[in-house]
Amino acid sequence: MSVLVTGAEGLLGSALVAHGAWGLGRADLDVTDFQTAERLLAETGVTRVLFCAALTNVDRCATDPRAWTVNVEAPAWFAQRVETWLISTNYVFDGPGPHAPDAARAPCNAYGRQKAEAEDRVLAAGGHVVRTGWLFGRGGRNFGSTIRDRLAAGPVSALSDWPIQPTWVGDLAEVLMDLPQGITHAIGDTETTWAGFAMAAAQRFGGTVKPVQEVGMGHRPSDARLTPATLPGFRERLAEL
Ligand SMILES: NC(=O)c1ccc[n+]([C@@H]2O[C@H](COP(=O)([O-])OP(=O)(O)OC[C@H]3O[C@@H](n4cnc5c(N)ncnc54)[C@H](OP(=O)(O)O)[C@@H]3O)[C@@H](O)[C@H]2O)c1
Repeated sequence: MSVLVTGAEGLLGSALVAHGAWGLGRADLDVTDFQTAERLLAETGVTRVLFCAALTNVDRCATDPRAWTVNVEAPAWFAQRVETWLISTNYVFDGPGPHAPDAARAPCNAYGRQKAEAEDRVLAAGGHVVRTGWLFGRGGRNFGSTIRDRLAAGPVSALSDWPIQPTWVGDLAEVLMDLPQGITHAIGDTETTWAGFAMAAAQRFGGTVKPVQEVGMGHRPSDARLTPATLPGFRERLAEL
């Protein structure tokens, strides 16, 4: 039990638990409750934390006052006490991509700015950063199961002009179980668009897709692709969805 997963009931946290990691969800460990966290670290002897707790709703991060505490202050607090792996995001970049681990960051929204600040604080404390993007999997909120379910309900409109690299959450969990050092990019190796993903999903699950262009994206990076992209592509993983 020397490694602890926070946010263990989220999409990635639950994938790590499924891979055999020990994790606590928000009800058992609120990462912003530093008194309880201090006690837990002392009692359990945890020396390493895979920090998966986060407020991940990109638009809410701009308005929810808890976002800075959860996304920035909490991982920094853990990193000052135990070896910490911050799960960060391709949203610390803007276009043009693909972006290498040492590329200059330029977050264009509050979520990206929070994650970039958390990266700096965790690295300064001797911790590690694993950047990923466009996760899909079986549990929790994610675009893969959302698209699958919407296809069953009727035609799905999906963006055809924004590059994405869908990443199966189980593949990311395997990377994290190896506790990679420094800054690591972990993302699916097959590039597509939301429409491309939805069409591949429609071939497998049925349904129809209507490709559309640039509607309702809000403040999102124009090109958030990461390099190197080494994890299996989404076509190989749709069957598992
Ligand atoms: N999903 C993606 O496509 C994606 C892409 C790039 C990076 N990431 C990063 O990957 C990490 C995991 O994301 P995910 O997709 O697994 O997100 P998720 O499904 O939203 O999981 C995050 C978990 O953190 C929990 N949490 C929120 N506030 C907390 C607190 N104060 N104390 C303890 N737990 C708290 C949430 O609980 P509630 O649900 O109860 O709020 C949720 O279970 C995040 O750092 C995210 O930024 C994700």
